[in-house]
Amino acid sequence: MNVDNTGGATPSMTEKDMLIREIERLKKEKKAVVLAHYYQRPEIQDVADHIGDSLALARYASTLKDVEMIVLCGVHFMGETAKILSPDKKVVIPDLEAGCSLADSCDAEEFKKFIDRHPGHTVVSYVNTSVGVKALTDVLVTSGNAVKIVESFPKDEKIIFGPDRNLGNYINSITGREMVLWDGACHVHEQFSMEKLVALKKEHPQAKVLVHPECKKALRLLADKVGSTAALIDYAGNSDADEFIVVTESGIMHELEKKFPEKRFIAAPPEDGGCACNECGFMKLNTLKKLYECMRDGQPEILVDEKVAAAARRPIERMLELS
Ligand code: 13P
Ligand code: SF4
Repeated sequence: MNVDNTGGATPSMTEKDMLIREIERLKKEKKAVVLAHYYQRPEIQDVADHIGDSLALARYASTLKDVEMIVLCGVHFMGETAKILSPDKKVVIPDLEAGCSLADSCDAEEFKKFIDRHPGHTVVSYVNTSVGVKALTDVLVTSGNAVKIVESFPKDEKIIFGPDRNLGNYINSITGREMVLWDGACHVHEQFSMEKLVALKKEHPQAKVLVHPECKKALRLLADKVGSTAALIDYAGNSDADEFIVVTESGIMHELEKKFPEKRFIAAPPEDGGCACNECGFMKLNTLKKLYECMRDGQPEILVDEKVAAAARRPIERMLELS
C-alpha cells in the first residue's frame, strides 16, 4: 500500500481512505465480491458490494457470477454457508475467530443425542449453527424465513428446533406448533432489559419498537415488529412513524440511519447500562484493515470438509427453495 507523497499537491490520504482504495483495487484484481452483514462496523458496510441479513448473504453466495473470491464480512457460520453454496469459489473472512455464541451453544454430538431422543421428528435448525449440526438437519431456516418454512409442514408434523430457544419459542407462538426446543441462546440478544425498554417506551410514546426474534419473549411482547435484521429495516422504511426503538445488535443502526435520515432510531440499552453488550464482539472482530489484509493475502480462508459440506448443502438448499 503506497502513501501519496506528492508534496501536498494532493491532500494526504488517511489510513481509512487508503484501505478503501486498496480494497476497491483488490476487488477488481482478484474478481472479489465483498458481502457484509448489518452488524458489521459502518466502514465495512460502506465498502461492501452487498449488505444483508443472513438469508440475503446466503442467496448472494449461491447466485454470484464471474466471481473468484467471496469476502464474507460476518461471522464464521456465514462464511461456511457461503462456501457450502459456492464450493468452487474461494471464501475468505477478515477474522477467523469471528464465531457465534449461539452456534457454540449447540455441539453436533450433543445435538445428535437430542435428535435420537426424539425419533420421528423432523429436524429444523437455525442457520446460526456449525456445519456439523447443519449436516444433521432436514431443513435450515434464518430469522427471515423461519415462520414460512415451519408453516410449510403439515400441522401435525413433529419437529425439533435448535439451537435458539427464543426464536423457537417465537415460531411456536406464531404458528401454533409445539416444536421441541434446544436450549440455546445468543448472549447479545439475551442481554436486553425489559425494564429499560418499558422506561424507554414511556420516554418515547410515539416510537415503534423493533425487536429481533433472538430476544426473550418479554421483549418480543412489547414489539410493534419482530423480524430479521432485513425485516426490521423494511418495516422502518414502510412505517409512517418517525421514531423507532431498536432492540437488536447496534450495527444495524448504521443502515437504518443511512437509509432513513429523516427518522430517529434509538438503540435499546442492555441490562447493564454502560457496557457495550448490545454489540456482538464476534461481528466487531472484523475491521477494515483485516478486510484489506484478507483480500491481499487470500486468507484466512474458510474450508469445509467436502463430505460434511455435501450433507450440510441439502438442508441449506431446501431452505432456499422454501423461502
Ligand atoms: P439476521 O438473519 O436477522 O440477519 O440475524 C443474524 C444474527 O446473527 C442475529 O444475531
Ligand atoms: Fe451470533 Fe448473537 Fe453475534 Fe448474531 S449477535 S452472530 S447470534 S453471537
